[in-house]
Amino acid sequence: MIEVSAPGKLYIAGEYAVVEAGHPAIIVAVDQFVTVSMNEAKRNGSIQSGQYSDLPVRWTRKKGELVLDIRDNPFHYILAAIRLTEKYALEHETTLRFFDLKVTSELDSSNGRKYGLGSSGAVTVATVKALNEFYQLNLDRLTIFKLAALAHHEVASNGSCGDIAASCYGGWLAFSTFDHDWLAEVYAQHSVAELVAMDWPQLSIQPLQAPKDLRLLIGWTGSPASTSDLVDQVHHSREQQQQRYTQFLADSKACVEKMIEGFRQNNIKQIQQMIRKNRHLLQELTSITGVVIETPALKQLCDLAEENEGAAKSSGAGGGDCGIVITSQKSGILPLMSTWENADITPLPLHVYFSEKRKD
Ligand code: PMV
Ligand code: MG
Repeated sequence: MIEVSAPGKLYIAGEYAVVEAGHPAIIVAVDQFVTVSMNEAKRNGSIQSGQYSDLPVRWTRKKGELVLDIRDNPFHYILAAIRLTEKYALEHETTLRFFDLKVTSELDSSNGRKYGLGSSGAVTVATVKALNEFYQLNLDRLTIFKLAALAHHEVASNGSCGDIAASCYGGWLAFSTFDHDWLAEVYAQHSVAELVAMDWPQLSIQPLQAPKDLRLLIGWTGSPASTSDLVDQVHHSREQQQQRYTQFLADSKACVEKMIEGFRQNNIKQIQQMIRKNRHLLQELTSITGVVIETPALKQLCDLAEENEGAAKSSGAGGGDCGIVITSQKSGILPLMSTWENADITPLPLHVYFSEKRKD
């Protein structure tokens, strides 16, 4: 039996701007996993996943027709990942076989609701990695990233693929996405093997080293939100405010670059300053677009952290889910933990996950 896991992720900074090519975000992989197991099968195969089993399938109407929104459904990411990796395998003269594939996830809470740790990215990466072993393709990390990103392109996901990068590389990352319009143009004209062999314009994935004394705290406010919905909403409303939106993009880029510099110089104070700056920039994005990113519960999470020597902001698309706090090892965390608990904020006992090859 083959069994592979891929970690979930949390955004530290640069959200929303990172969906535009060349705008950096900082992301970490966390030690909660999606696991894919595969067994060789005969004559036909099967796919089994308990993820979201009790969540409704969302739909909308376009020109009077009912249209399913498949972007929040992990099944479609699994199918696209299989299709693309098998195409790649065929192009490398591999004989395709049958298999039973089973997905289990720690990224969904016991009552079936997401923590917002990014299970669609992780399930895609875990599926590609499992097939990599099954067909002995010897894929390197970047190729696994590209195959998983192509699968997200097939599902018409509007995300940056930062979750995929975190899941592939582990640890702390500075990530900027590729030019998605370029991919849409070349996609139909090339084989999968050709696509993954190309240099993807503006894609950048750089591992970062966190300062030794830096501590990351994570709080969960509940009320999970749909990332793809929130990104759609920001995209629709930015058009009326193009100038302010362009300014937001430039400010976010400058802020995250300064934060990356803070990582390179082991400067926790500078990282904290930029966390605060990024929080303000996301509040500005809310005033530009009307999309609520920092909910009242996330505001409370951040304000309590600030009262306890932390620098805090919402993580990811916001609208619920997690907030993150950067503190120094030297400041105690227990007072903050108890104020959070009194405010119904759940501290998540997660750690940054470093994959095997980066453990040194
Ligand atoms: O809500 P999350 O943790 O999936 O993060 C989304 C981050 C965005 O920048 C808003 C979207 C993206 O795909 O990068
Ligand atoms: Mg989220």
